[in-house]
Amino acid sequence: MSVKFSPGLEDTIIKQTSLTFIDGINGILRYRGYDIEDLVKNCIFEELIYLMLYGDLPNRQELNEIKEKINKNYQVPEEVIRMIYSLPREANAVGMMESAFGMLASIYDPKWEKTLNRDVAISVIAKTATITANIYRAKEGLKPNNPKIKSTYAETFLSTAFDRNVSEEEISSMNAALILYADHEVPASTTAGLVACSTLSDMYSSITSALAALKGPLHGRAAEDAFNQFVEIGSLNKVEEWFEEKIIKGKNRLMGFGHRVYKTYDPRAKIFKSLAESLSKKNEKANEYFKIANKLEEIGIKHFSEKKIYPNTDFYSGILFYSIGFPVYMFTALFALSRVLGWCSHFIEYVEEQHRLIRPRAIYIGPEKREFKKIDQR
Ligand code: CMC
Repeated sequence: MSVKFSPGLEDTIIKQTSLTFIDGINGILRYRGYDIEDLVKNCIFEELIYLMLYGDLPNRQELNEIKEKINKNYQVPEEVIRMIYSLPREANAVGMMESAFGMLASIYDPKWEKTLNRDVAISVIAKTATITANIYRAKEGLKPNNPKIKSTYAETFLSTAFDRNVSEEEISSMNAALILYADHEVPASTTAGLVACSTLSDMYSSITSALAALKGPLHGRAAEDAFNQFVEIGSLNKVEEWFEEKIIKGKNRLMGFGHRVYKTYDPRAKIFKSLAESLSKKNEKANEYFKIANKLEEIGIKHFSEKKIYPNTDFYSGILFYSIGFPVYMFTALFALSRVLGWCSHFIEYVEEQHRLIRPRAIYIGPEKREFKKIDQR
């Protein structure tokens, strides 16, 4: 077998999938054949959970059944909640999620079994809502909250986090964000999780691996960094000057721009932009950030479009999360809340249908054989 060197694994196909289709040239994203635009407009997140895990959109009865299963799984072991509240308030939110999933891996350690895998995934997805909500509460210095079960996953999550009545617009925006971030084929995080589950390590441990990869600024953290650019710019009349200084002269990357696969406008960014625009109208500060982002986008596209670098999903998502009431430090954790669905779906597809231990090779470029010298002769 010939082995090819592929830094960044760019030209490596790691698995086959029936889950997510991306056309990076024409800006198309589909989950199991459905356009992302149709799913965001018409579905609640629970329908997407069913679609990804079972292959088709649910009918009413199937939807009720999966909702019931999710509702039974929101509860998280007491030790995990205690651990979250025992960490310093400055602790990184995704790091806290990693710790929580590390604990769940040690408590549950489930085997991979066709009859159980989807139930484990539902447990992961439900528990992530309670964990993420309580990470927000712990970091804000609030008291732990048991899951406040409402009629949808998005509402349950927001109610558990904020402990207040949440508006229909906040719920529908959260629901849209959950669908938009749910899966994206095999980015670094999904690949990291696949490496772990290819050893048949359990689903919770594989989620921990995926979280570790998501945490980085070139992947999940980009939404925080993109939003921090708008904060740093501060006002609409400073956008051009900032771009000149930071991006052109300073040679920094414009965060929330560029993508390994999309060589055009990311279809998720289009939807996030329109949701962020409408939701931010109710929050003066968020609306200012939206206007700054819009101007920065215009300048960014003018400068980068020749290189096929356009806004990605993380450019506007932060404005939506901020408008709902989340601080910047939660943005990557909110990305993870949604992406656990994609991770679990890919892990199950891989283990059940095409399992093989992932073990690439490296080319040795170190010294030739050397004579060993005992410590006193070195
Ligand atoms: N700003 C400025 N220049 C850029 C950017 C950017 N955001 N993205 C790519 N480039 C340039 C880069 O400097 C390089 O230029 P040159 O060929 O002159 O050296 C060229 O484009 C190719 O860059 P690359 O890093 O080799 O390309 P990649 O496929 O590895 O890039 C990326 C993908 C996402 C790492 C990169 O676009 C980036 O760093 N973007 C900013 C961070 C970001 O927004 N990440 C979120 C990605 S989408 C959500 C997710 O999947 O998590």
